[in-house]
This record gives sequence, C-alpha cells and structure tokens, in this order.
Amino acid sequence: MKRLFLVLTTMLLVHNQVPAQSAPDCIIPKVESYSLSKGCFTLQPGSTFYIKTKTPEGAAAFEEYLAACPLGLVKAPGKKADVLFTIDDKQLKGKSQGAYQLSITPKGITVKAAGFEGAFYALQSLMQMRNASPDGALAACRIDDSPRFPYRGLMFDVVRHFHSKDFILKQLDLMALLKMNRLHMHLTDNEGWRIQLDCAPEMVKGGAFGSSKFFNTILSGLPRGFTREPAGYVSGTVYDDGTVYGGYYSKKDIQEIIDYAAARHIVIVPEIELPGHNAVLLHVHPEFYCQGGHKVDNVVCAGNEGVFDFFEKVLEEVMDLFPGTYIHIGGDEASKANWLLCPRCRERMAAEGLGDEFQLQSYIIRRIEAFINKHGKRLIGWDEILEGGLSEGATVMSWRGTKGGIESLRQHHDVIMTPNTYYYFDYGQDAPYKEPIAFNAYLPLKTVYGYDPEEEIRSSAGPGVDCSHLLGVQANLWSECIIEDGHYEYMLYPRAFAVAETGWSPAGSKDYAAFRAKAARLAEWIKEQGYHPFDLATEAGDRPEAGIPLPRISDSIKASWSIAGGAAEDASILVDGFRGGWNINDARAWKEARNKEMVVDIDLGSVKDIHYVGAEFVDYGTRRMFVPQDTEFSISEDGKVYTPLKVPQARLAAGRKHFQICTVGGPVSEKGRYLRLSFNSGPDKVRARIGEIMIN
Ligand code: ACM
Ligand code: ZN
Repeated sequence: MKRLFLVLTTMLLVHNQVPAQSAPDCIIPKVESYSLSKGCFTLQPGSTFYIKTKTPEGAAAFEEYLAACPLGLVKAPGKKADVLFTIDDKQLKGKSQGAYQLSITPKGITVKAAGFEGAFYALQSLMQMRNASPDGALAACRIDDSPRFPYRGLMFDVVRHFHSKDFILKQLDLMALLKMNRLHMHLTDNEGWRIQLDCAPEMVKGGAFGSSKFFNTILSGLPRGFTREPAGYVSGTVYDDGTVYGGYYSKKDIQEIIDYAAARHIVIVPEIELPGHNAVLLHVHPEFYCQGGHKVDNVVCAGNEGVFDFFEKVLEEVMDLFPGTYIHIGGDEASKANWLLCPRCRERMAAEGLGDEFQLQSYIIRRIEAFINKHGKRLIGWDEILEGGLSEGATVMSWRGTKGGIESLRQHHDVIMTPNTYYYFDYGQDAPYKEPIAFNAYLPLKTVYGYDPEEEIRSSAGPGVDCSHLLGVQANLWSECIIEDGHYEYMLYPRAFAVAETGWSPAGSKDYAAFRAKAARLAEWIKEQGYHPFDLATEAGDRPEAGIPLPRISDSIKASWSIAGGAAEDASILVDGFRGGWNINDARAWKEARNKEMVVDIDLGSVKDIHYVGAEFVDYGTRRMFVPQDTEFSISEDGKVYTPLKVPQARLAAGRKHFQICTVGGPVSEKGRYLRLSFNSGPDKVRARIGEIMIN
C-alpha cells in the first residue's frame, strides 16, 4: 500500500484530460455491469468509513488496509459514514467469491459484499475511480461486479535472475489493484535455489549465488553459430565490480511475502521443480545424478530413494510455510534419456511394472502427489505431468499452447491456462529492433488482450468440451533475459492488465480500443507511482511490410521444400505474396529449418522474365536462429538443369544486435520457370527461419 499510493496528488495534476467525474468505465478489469445516475459524490482525504459486519473474521485486516490506504479515509465515530461497508454472508447470494455491489449517490457510498474479499475488491474499484478523477468527484452509479474465474494469476521466475522481497511486495500492490489473486513463485531451477529451508540449508549456501553460462552468453550477445551448452549451474559468478550474482528469500522474507499477499487476498503458489530443471540441486547433491557415466543433464535419478527423501522433506517444510492449497512441482521439460541408461531407474521401472520412461515420469508425479495430498494440499504441474497418466486430483497448467488444457479438461482435471502463445511475458511486446533483448518475439498487448481461454479451447476442441474445470488464467514472466527490476516491470505492465481483465470480466465483453485507452491511463499512473511500464504511446506495432501484398509474378506459383533429399513438403506460405511479421512463431508466415540442408523448389507455372529474387531470414541469437551464409538461388526452364544465380549473401545491418530480418538476394536478369533456393541451417541445435521468397 505504502508503495503504490505514495503520491496521489501528483497524478491528479497530471491527468487534466480526464473528465471531472470519473465513471466505472475507467476500471481495469472491466466491471460486470454498472448504471449511471444523476450527480456525484466527492471522495476526499478525511472522508469517513464504517464497517458493518456479522463476520468479524478478516475485519481487523480490512480495517488496517483501509485506514492505511491513500484514499485518506478515517474511521467514523458512529455508524454514519461517507463510505459504508456492509459485509455479511446473506449479501449477494449466488454470486461468485469476491463479488461486490458498490453504490455511489450524492449522499455517500455504500458497499455490500458477502465477505471481506468482495469489500476489498470494491475498494480497489473505488481507488481506480478516485485516481481517474482530478478532484475526487465520482459519478453517481451502481456497480454489480464479480469475477469470471477463481484463479487470476501471475508467475514470477525469480531464479534465472533474482528479484528481491521488496520488489515482490511492490508487485503485490499492483496485483491487488487489478483484482488478481494468485502469485506463483518459481523458486528453484537450473540456475538457482531461491528459498531458505531449515531442512536443506546447503541449497542456498551452495546454490543461490551463481548463474548459467547459457544465459550469460545470451545476454552478452550470442556469437554466430553458437550451440547451446548443457543447462548448467556455475557457482559464484563474479562481476567486474566484484559482486557475486544471486540471492534468496529467507524464511522471514517468505513469511512477509505471504502475509502481505494475504492482506491483499492473494495466495502465493510456491513451485519446487522436479524431476527436471534441477542443475543446481545436482550441483549441490551430485549423488542425485543417474548412474552410468553418460551425458550431464538436469534431471534427477528416479531410481534413487534419496531423491524422494530430499523432495519430501523440502515439500513438507514448504507446505508448512505456505498456507495456500496448491503446491506446484514443475514437471516440465524433463529429458528422459538418462533414465533409460541408468541401472537404478531401469530397476525402478521393472519393480513398478512401468512400460516406458513416460510412465516413470508419471510414477514420480503420482508418488509426490500422494505425499502432497496426505498433507491436505493439492498438486499443480506444467502440462507435461499428463505424460504417462495423471491421478485425478492434480491440476494442470497448460503452457504449450492450448493442447494440454484441452486434454486435461477431457480427463476432468482442473486447468489453469497459461499458453506461451499469449501469456509468456518474456516475449517482446513491440517491434523487436526497438525493444530490449527478449526470449522470444512478439506478443503485443492486443494479442494478450485478445486471448479468451474458453473461446480458444472451444474453437480447437469443438463446442462440446466441458469447461467446468477451467479455473482461470495466468501469465508467466520467465527471467532469463531480465536482470533489472525496471525491465521486469516493463515486461509485466500493461500486459498484466489484459490478463486481469480476461480473468475477471464477463466473457464476450471485450473492447480493445476502450481497454487500450484505459490501460494507457493506468500505465501512466503507475509510472507516477514508481513502476516502469512499457509506454503504449511509443508502440510501433507489427512489422508494417507484413500487411502489404507483394507484386505477384504468377498467379499459379507453387513451392515445396525438402530436407537433405527427403520427401517434398508443401511450402506455399513462402510464396503467398506476404512477408512475415514480427511474430516469427506464426507458422502461417515463417518456416523453421533445423540442422539440415534445405532445398526450396518453386514452380512459377510457366516461363517468366525474372528481375529480382530474394528470401527473408530471421537473425535472432536468443532463439539460436541465424541467417545462413551459404544460400544459393538457381534457375531452370525445364526443372532438370539448374543454373546458379549470382546474388549476394545476407548482410546483417549494424546496430540491431538481438533481432533482425535479413533479405538474401538481389537483382537478376533471367528467364525461367523453376527456381531453387538451397541453404544449410547451420550446425547442431542452430536453426534457420525463412519467410517470404520474393520473385518478380
Ligand atoms: C515452461 O515454460 N517450461 C513451463
Ligand atoms: Zn537414474
């Protein structure tokens, strides 16, 4: 609170463009319904409040929050007050948890809710209205509001780069303002162990100050042709100024985060990763490696009882510490290669009658789930936990697009949608050449806002799919490329506003133009409060060339491609007359070639005079995508005998370090029907991404 509403008056001076009276349409997330009436009420510092309740539990915490809130309200001496909160469980029967009714009349403000959560959200709506009004004049209105989904979350990766307790508290203030109610903290991974536990003090001692070679290399600019090293933990990375990189939350820090969140009706969901993403654990406990002397990996041995003992004692302490129902155990991206080679893992598979390595993963998840359930908690995992079968009570976070969510719903698992295609905030949010380095491109506010989980599931799986187990949505901010707190906030806001609206506001109520305008205003306001949002006023948008049709040399142009002499596959998107946009993951515009000699064959339909040939490639070190340096165009009249064309190789523009789209090609003076482009995507693990091939 103290962080978010520091200088209420400053912003009142700044926003002279807002109307004198603020109406509920300024609120993010959009309220369920409202009606306006005549007049207004002026809320000022010194306005009084009174809480009338038959449910005293939670009253003290709410009153404390209210009294400290920058609205400057003071407790009324009697029952008469400017803002009257009526809280009892007879209110708003049949409405979802967190519902409230807020009435503003020229005489005063009344709030009704079944519990303090609803009253808290009414207060957030009031604060947003107050912030949008220069002199505190709030339009007379009645708001009826309730959340669409019970789970409205953000995930913070505090491992890849550590972010302090104070930083987390600051974000909790804003989450509360947005009526978000779950903060998932990704606390362990290859690059660090960020939670102090009495049962495993060695983990922060040996695993909280270090980093990953891979991410360091990304951040310093990947060299051309760089191939990824095994994800590994490097102890004690020392910077030029002598500081050692890292950090962790003490138990006291964790308790403070939990309490601060609870006062804002936010539950912390802790994540302890297993069985993969564990390079740091293997660094501290090398005995947890699989046996057999094979490749170094980040997956723990599934045949080693010591591994289960370790995770059980860790989870027990974590469950004691965090009051929420959910414990997240990761479960994603666990390579199974070592398990198949390891005698102990093979023994486990034989003893448990497990048919393959996926069933071994399932065995781990089920065993850990039983342990968690025994303690009265519930397991959440990334969608890989579906592999090999999942027990009924587990909740799935669907991150690889929508597929995992659909499969989970079919199996009647609770689901939280967090698709990388819409909700990965480590992706850049504007034209990549003007943005800081990002882990992927391109996820602007409009795309994030456009996502509706139910709509997307139904359009992929058919209208008959049962969405009753869809708990809600969550955006994830992975921090591989994000060191600075300001950069972290920049990636979060205003995109988190869009997630809040999707999680809370009624289905089918979206209006991007209206949302963008209020998001720009709220972003401006949070900037006043010391946050660092992306500036929507400078948004460049998608690649302008992508929307402009190219001249067509032929209406019957066709393309196919083949890999190292393999079968030809359709590649018509490469000659569809449109360049790709910044979203290089859009399979309708870009094609990926990995590790292979590629040949693209183009048939113009008849012999043509050709004056220009060119092909677009992406150069994007973060994704290990490089422009091939051995491209060759050749031409043929009969499709049998090809003559190479002399066109220049790609030249990378100076000054665009992290991302660029390069054209390979140039003017020619040729006649032919068949054109061939060959290239090599590069060494192992390096890839090429090709877009439009332009011929005229
Ligand atoms: C994930 O992005 N591996 C959950
Ligand atoms: Zn093993």
